[in-house]
Amino acid sequence: MAQLIDGKQISKEIKDELKTEVQKLKSEGKNVCLAVVQVGDDPASTVYVNNKKKACAYIGIESRSYELPESTSEEELTALVEELNEDDGVNGILVQLPLPSHIDEDRIIRTISPDKDVDGFHPVSVGRLWIGEKGFLSCTPAGIIQLLKRSNIEIAGKNCVIIGRSNIVGKPMAALLLRENGTVTITHSKTKDLQKITKTADILIVAIGKERFITSDYVKEGAVVIDVGMHRDSENHLCGDVDFRDVEPKVSAITPVPGGVGPMTIAMLMNNCVETVRC
Ligand code: GUN
Repeated sequence: MAQLIDGKQISKEIKDELKTEVQKLKSEGKNVCLAVVQVGDDPASTVYVNNKKKACAYIGIESRSYELPESTSEEELTALVEELNEDDGVNGILVQLPLPSHIDEDRIIRTISPDKDVDGFHPVSVGRLWIGEKGFLSCTPAGIIQLLKRSNIEIAGKNCVIIGRSNIVGKPMAALLLRENGTVTITHSKTKDLQKITKTADILIVAIGKERFITSDYVKEGAVVIDVGMHRDSENHLCGDVDFRDVEPKVSAITPVPGGVGPMTIAMLMNNCVETVRC
């Protein structure tokens, strides 16, 4: 039987550690405050934003909510972000994505001060990550590193294969695994003979965006499989990019969906918020 990598439990451990740390910081007169900005009322974004605010409340991080109408212009949003950049009472700024199509997301991300970029999306944060400088780490890949470390899975010297090359998961994942001395391959939609490459993986990170795409034919016996996907199938069940039932018997460890990678993203966002006041 494969080891089940329990993201729900590990994220709880991290949040509890942060709660203790925030209490200590408060006793030293240091407050942690996250500004959460949502434009429009997309229901999925509202769920994510509420979960982030709930996690803040649990840990003892102050959250300031900015709910702007869908009609907000890029100039108005830019002005708010600039105001939050200047506000010494705000440590971290999170602008929930996606933004309405009339707003240039990249321009807004670049407006957030790199010192308050708790999502780790700003080009300065990305550059710092790649050259091994201290900076904010993209939350989902940072959460995956924690899942591996806290499950005692060695990364150094392992063949790590990533499926997906997004700026939010695939690329920062590669940088982080490299930093842990993994041997890293990134595959994507134009990769030829995907199966041949994924079967070399000791650690396979799947962020392909296709429901139950990865079957046992894609994995090596005894591999570790991390599933970043999240879908609702035709029977309304949550599932990932990995066909769990088919793959689980063949591997040494695997993340479930739900309860694997998902809960880690918010835990690492909270860690980035605390990081703003650590030094
Ligand atoms: N939308 C979906 N995931 C994320 C995330 O991690 N950060 C932000 N800002 N928006 C998102």
